[in-house]
Amino acid sequence: MSRRDAVFNLSKMKELVVFILLTLTLSLSACNWFRDFDFERGARLTRGDPQLGRKQLAMHSCSSCHVIPGVPKADGTRGPSLAHWYGRRTFLSTFPNTPENMEKWLERPSHRKPGTTMPDLSVSSQESRDMTAYLFSIN
Ligand code: HEC
Repeated sequence: MSRRDAVFNLSKMKELVVFILLTLTLSLSACNWFRDFDFERGARLTRGDPQLGRKQLAMHSCSSCHVIPGVPKADGTRGPSLAHWYGRRTFLSTFPNTPENMEKWLERPSHRKPGTTMPDLSVSSQESRDMTAYLFSIN
């Protein structure tokens, strides 16, 4: 094999390595996405639409007060983090973590917990169902 061929083969080899690494990285991040969320479960438990819910969570500025995985810029710290929501047994220390309780909380925080510092945000029942669908999709 001539020296030129050897150099050529080496650069081909480098391209191959880069290609394999890229493919690995992409498929690993896809796996993470599926491990971090179960949108089918969120939809089944609530009969809401998790993808619409994700948009609602951003539109109602929930994201400015809460950390919510998968929602852009949701890094607020005034309220508790909503990460790993599906695994919670209770919320606000007392309410059993069921979709029904969550929907009621989101529609009127002040009714569920008088004096709470989370504001009422004029959320319709459909919107609160969709947002609940998203929250119950978060593993
Ligand atoms: C102005 C800031 C603010 C906004 C906007 C806001 N929240 Fe909250 N949220 C809070 C605070 C503060 C609490 C804790 C309330 C308490 O303990 O009385 C809370 C509590 C919660 C809880 C219970 C968390 C737990 O761990 O017990 C959930 C769920 C929640 N908010 C979801 C939402 C959603 C969904 C939206 C958008 C519709 C939203 N919040 C908008 C501040 C906010």
